[in-house]
Amino acid sequence: MSLAIGRRPFLFGMATAVLLVRGAAEGFAASGPMPRRMSAPGRFLGTSLRFDQLAKDSALRDAVLQDCDMVTPEVDLKWAAIQPARNRFNYRPVDELIAFSTDNRLRVHGHTLLWEQSIPDWARADLAQDEPDWDVVGGYFRAVLGRYSGAVDTWDVINEPIETSHRADGLRANSFLRAFGPDYIPRALREARAAAPRARLLLNEYSFEYGNPVDEARRNAMLRLLGKLRAADIPLDGLGMQAHLDLAKGPLATRALRRFMQNVADLGLDLYVTELDVRERNITLPVAKRDQLVADETKRYLAAVLDQPAVKGITTWGLSDRYSWLIPPRADAVNRGLPYNSDLQPKPMYFVLRDALANLQA
Ligand code: G3I
Repeated sequence: MSLAIGRRPFLFGMATAVLLVRGAAEGFAASGPMPRRMSAPGRFLGTSLRFDQLAKDSALRDAVLQDCDMVTPEVDLKWAAIQPARNRFNYRPVDELIAFSTDNRLRVHGHTLLWEQSIPDWARADLAQDEPDWDVVGGYFRAVLGRYSGAVDTWDVINEPIETSHRADGLRANSFLRAFGPDYIPRALREARAAAPRARLLLNEYSFEYGNPVDEARRNAMLRLLGKLRAADIPLDGLGMQAHLDLAKGPLATRALRRFMQNVADLGLDLYVTELDVRERNITLPVAKRDQLVADETKRYLAAVLDQPAVKGITTWGLSDRYSWLIPPRADAVNRGLPYNSDLQPKPMYFVLRDALANLQA
């Protein structure tokens, strides 16, 4: 089942050497590798991955082993990928990613159980029936959570439950809400706890970072939802903040973000940065300038979030621009909003992350 990928000690040494050479070549102060364990307040660094990319790209593998403590399957663990037909489960890519993680002592973050954009067609049809059967969800939870309990530490049980333009309570009117009402959220969390009693259960959501009215409404709606779930003693351990930063959205609302995180922490919940990357605004600028803008935004963001003790870790949504999901408007361009460029060379964003994490350990 496991790929013929080497064990950490060999790869770690190789990756360190490669990284130092790369850093020097780009003229950055590459004084040392990214710390593998952010031991200070127990923070981790993670990245999302697709197993097919990992399997064929040794430079990506080296970077993952060099830098990360945690991996998140970017696509393969979504419902549509893992249960394409009612009686057909496609576990192989996730099994392989978990084997790679186990071999190399990486933790695995489960992304994601319920997300409007990854419902298989057969389940979407079931959910749209007059009296949908909860067991469509329940059976899937029991199968997937049961299979991976012990291997997956944390789960995004519900991805993107908030959409403030849909309803007065700020909940997204997705297929689950239409089928079961707002109660789908506590039901899913209870179901997840029953199937994976030791896993940390999260909600995962985007757009909390900026000062515009939409982000503000989203912060408020999420706080209301979390408050209700906590008051009703629903099993929930934390909130994932996707953190798709965007240079077109103006300055980060760091004060509001800090307040929001403190409010979440006050509810007794952990926080996780789950999908960090930076969407560029102007791809016609010189590359060095673009990379600096991305790094500066990352630095401001990390300064705000890493101060908050409830933040347990940072996951970037990919490590290299080669695999960024962010496609700029020009076909021949790539968005440069991840730590490594398309040639797997570390960029200023990499060193910002490394230094922010190193400072925590000092
Ligand atoms: O692998 C198939 C390929 O066989 C097929 O030919 C091709 C045709 O479109 O599709 C390929 O699958 C694509 C897959 O990525 C792998 O590249 C899917 O169409 C595409 O929808 C999928 O996109 C992913 C998206 O979530 C939907 O699952 C992105 O890579 C992934 O970065 C994105 O991640 C989301 C998070 O889950 C939630 N937060 C936002 C984030 C970015 O959108």
